[in-house]
Amino acid sequence: MNIGIIGTGYVGLVSGVCLSAIGHTVICVDNDKEKVKKLKNGIATIYEPGLQELMTKQIKKKKLLFSDSIKEAAKKSQVIFIAVGTPSKKNGDADLTYVENVARQIAESMDSYKLIVEKSTVPAETGKRIEHTIKLNLPKQARNRSVPFDVASNPEFLREGSAIADFMNPDRVVIGVESKKAEELLKEIYKPLKTKIIVTNMTSAEIIKHASNSFLATKISFANALSQICDRVGADILKVTEGMGYDQRIGSSFLNAGIGFGGSCFPKDVDAFIRLSEKSGYDFHLLKAVRQTNEEQKAAFVRLIEDKLWIVKGKTIGVLGLAFKPNTDDMRNAPSVDIITRLQAEGAKIKAYDPQAMEQAKKVFKDVTFCADAYGVAKSSDCVVVLTEWDEFRKIDFKKLHKVMRQPMIFDGRNLYKNDNLVELGFEYYGIGRGEKS
Ligand code: UDX
Repeated sequence: MNIGIIGTGYVGLVSGVCLSAIGHTVICVDNDKEKVKKLKNGIATIYEPGLQELMTKQIKKKKLLFSDSIKEAAKKSQVIFIAVGTPSKKNGDADLTYVENVARQIAESMDSYKLIVEKSTVPAETGKRIEHTIKLNLPKQARNRSVPFDVASNPEFLREGSAIADFMNPDRVVIGVESKKAEELLKEIYKPLKTKIIVTNMTSAEIIKHASNSFLATKISFANALSQICDRVGADILKVTEGMGYDQRIGSSFLNAGIGFGGSCFPKDVDAFIRLSEKSGYDFHLLKAVRQTNEEQKAAFVRLIEDKLWIVKGKTIGVLGLAFKPNTDDMRNAPSVDIITRLQAEGAKIKAYDPQAMEQAKKVFKDVTFCADAYGVAKSSDCVVVLTEWDEFRKIDFKKLHKVMRQPMIFDGRNLYKNDNLVELGFEYYGIGRGEKS
């Protein structure tokens, strides 16, 4: 099938490349001409394992094209996905300016039946508003011939770092449709994935996306709240969540306590769902507490460091990991930003290393000394703080690390070294919720 994708951000580019890999001819559009130039030259504009290779392959096969013209994509495609950004406004609402602009431009180019699919995370009823915008903006001749179209919702559930695998082997595909034709087209598109397809109306599909991300965020905040209790009563969060996770009704995933969730989705989506609920007349107390717990978890970690270091002012703190999670260079809403800023405010000197996110991090932080590896970070540091659980940090030579540090103290914000007996190696070690702080 001929598919157009508008927006080559994270969701748009990964979806475009993968839809082309499962047999469709895809044209990806962005209004950033520089970005389109790079993409046309075969350069992936985001870091995602496997993406560059797959992209190169699909471009060679001529199944993946790039353009800066929505008009071109609308003419060439029967199905057009909208995957543009929906940033948060100050009040937590999703800003849908880009979605509206794109809908208008698609309408202006419409000369035959099109299925327009929203893939960006949007508040409930956005689909209906897109439909209305398209109707209002159809060119006169199309209106006279009453060119038919459908709008549908097809939320994505891709995780950064494993987005290709998530796309190719999804737990489910959700399609929110208002017509049989839209349902058939979307089922046809996803047929090669041989997965469960949940068919519902547009609004329910939009809510499924909000509810899924908010529920996962709730699980994380629940584990983080538990970690606080574990520390106070001398229990081990790892054993507690293991014991809970074997109950199939609970499940073990997304129960890893740490320094809070970050990234481009969870914080923004939780905010947006709280706002959406408020507007609908429901006060989502539960989700507000999830957000608050997340903020408190970062603050508690900083308090722990301050408490154990005693005097923070003038001390050198070595940070391992800056990205909001491993296998990505994404710094959006990374917990490291809050934590480092707070420590700097207390007068700490920060040295840091991240395997992928240093370029992005340089745009975010002031007065941070970036190092070439973990040992550079540890050299002459008063403590080492782990903020992202990169695999590379699992293989650290602790004897070497111990030798170069000024004080052998480790704060493990991701419980990465839960099985390495760092105390026996001479370190003062603090994890999250391991019951040591009581
Ligand atoms: C998320 C959703 O998982 C995905 O379905 C959606 O489409 C986009 O948002 P992503 O933001 O890439 O994906 O990352 P994810 O792996 O879900 O992690 C989000 C944050 O939660 C990270 O900061 C991570 O470190 C944190 N997290 C995750 C925990 O603190 N504990 C956990 O148990 C799991």
